[in-house]
Amino acid sequence: MSKVTVVGAGNVGATCANVLAFNEVADEVVMLDVKEGVSEGKAMDMMQTAQLLGFDSTLVGCTNDYEKTANSDVVVITSGIPRKPGMTREELIGVNAGIVKSVAQNILKYSPNAILVVISNPMDTMTYLALKSLDLPKNRVIGMGGALDSSRFKYYLSQALGCNANEVEGMVIGGHGDTTMIPLTRFATYKGLPVSNFLSAEKLEEIAAATMVGGATLTKLLGTSAWYAPGAAGAYVAEAIIHNQKKMIPCSVLLEGEYGQSDLCCGVPVILGKNGIEEIIELPLNEDEKAKFAASAEAVRKTNAALTEVGAL
Ligand code: 2OP
Repeated sequence: MSKVTVVGAGNVGATCANVLAFNEVADEVVMLDVKEGVSEGKAMDMMQTAQLLGFDSTLVGCTNDYEKTANSDVVVITSGIPRKPGMTREELIGVNAGIVKSVAQNILKYSPNAILVVISNPMDTMTYLALKSLDLPKNRVIGMGGALDSSRFKYYLSQALGCNANEVEGMVIGGHGDTTMIPLTRFATYKGLPVSNFLSAEKLEEIAAATMVGGATLTKLLGTSAWYAPGAAGAYVAEAIIHNQKKMIPCSVLLEGEYGQSDLCCGVPVILGKNGIEEIIELPLNEDEKAKFAASAEAVRKTNAALTEVGAL
């Protein structure tokens, strides 16, 4: 029997749980939230779609009852506050660090072997915090930012190409921040052909810029952080692990010399399977991309330093 827990039943967590159940990724999907009744209500509402949508997974909601999460294979952490228009993800650290740390500690008490997928922002720093504060092996803590940013990159490419996003390949590496993510335009393809065969350099620059502020654009439109794609990205990562898919997905992972970086979590392509991170893929970056990655890592490192300031590490 496979089991996934989603901590936080807000917009992102509920979407993630819904996608997990609808796609029958796990036999049981548990949602846990601190707000009395919210996850129970959402789980019941979703279960009432089972017949309509034709899925067999069971959804369970609970209020802060970690016992119900016991023996989860994968735990997706969405807890914390989302950003408001005009805010950066980094500004959330003061509040979210304490929440993510205590959630991760509680989860591990009941699911000592779980693989953690972190969505909470600032995502790279929260991934690093979970890994360091619990002293977990690096294959078991994964930040999902690159999966989300790559999906947004493929969306913008597909819009410009006039095709379905599934016809496009593309990855975003680096930090999950408005100025730190790196859409890898040079490696993006449309049916295996470089996108530069179809789109001008100017258009591709526009697409990269739109990708980088993809989350901020939605925050401005919605008045709060986006949830459909972030929730689906969490489910996509969880599915690769639960179903041992060996998919290559850019995720935030602990670097130990790869890409010239150590002691920080940052987005790079990894192979995901039943052990979590099974391999880190080193891309043949050119000088410009290497410089961008180094700058991105530096920015993430700066945000990580705030963990000590807020007393989280
Ligand atoms: C986003 O980019 C929530 O950080 C997430 O929408």
